[in-house]
Amino acid sequence: MLSPETLRDLNERFQTEPTESTLTWAWNQFGDRAAIGTSFQGAGLVMIDLARRNGLDFPVFTLDTGLLFAETMALKLKLESFFGIQIESLEPDLSVETQAEVHGPELWKRDPDLCCTVRKVVPLQGKLASLDCWITGLRRQQSDTRSAIGVIESYLFDPVSGREVIKLNPMANWTRDAVWDYLKKHQIPYNPLQDQGYGSIGCVPCTRKAGRDENERAGRWMGFQKTECGIHTFMARKA
Ligand code: ADX
Ligand code: SF4
Repeated sequence: MLSPETLRDLNERFQTEPTESTLTWAWNQFGDRAAIGTSFQGAGLVMIDLARRNGLDFPVFTLDTGLLFAETMALKLKLESFFGIQIESLEPDLSVETQAEVHGPELWKRDPDLCCTVRKVVPLQGKLASLDCWITGLRRQQSDTRSAIGVIESYLFDPVSGREVIKLNPMANWTRDAVWDYLKKHQIPYNPLQDQGYGSIGCVPCTRKAGRDENERAGRWMGFQKTECGIHTFMARKA
């Protein structure tokens, strides 16, 4: 694993280097044990495009909660054909119907943390068990909770074995405008809901349109204190 000093040096380097250099470093270091996780929002699409253009064959996966918008599901197919790749869908053990039988109907209205754990966090944990590096589309500009993320971070995946996972956030410094300029310039298919006022798109029951002057993720889990689904908070950061 990478020492805290190495991580600090890499972070400094990645602050100034172009995003494709960060991705190339990850490919040289981890090969296909590094994978891009995406919900098909802007940043993830930019990364997939940069990886393809630079011959970096990262596997791509998405957490399919079974509660995504039809537009999001259609976009996945469109992207597979646009980029000529397969995108792995990670599904929870419980279908939406079985979850209703086990935990009661519309769990997201009563206990969204448990719902996100079942439908996102546990499937992601299953995937990370076979990866050394998880590449995300997190950006600092997205919300207060993300304003201090590193481009490269190390997390404790398994407290028993001490196994660590590298989390790479190559898009950390990108602004929303820069992402959209890139997508438009390269004519990359995107979610049509973005043009209808959705700033951040997740599951149907927990996504609303947000006001223009609110932060990008204000439309997620409205009415709850919740601001993160848990996939970015379940592991302890080591460095
Ligand atoms: S979320 O945590 O609230 O869902 P957001 O939608 O802002 O996050 O996305 C931030 C990053 O989390 C994405 O760029 C992606 O790397 C990861 N992520 C979020 N949702 C998914 C998903 N459904 N499948 C895979 N990765 C995801
Ligand atoms: Fe459940 Fe909402 Fe989390 Fe989706 S975002 S997994 S519906 S609580």
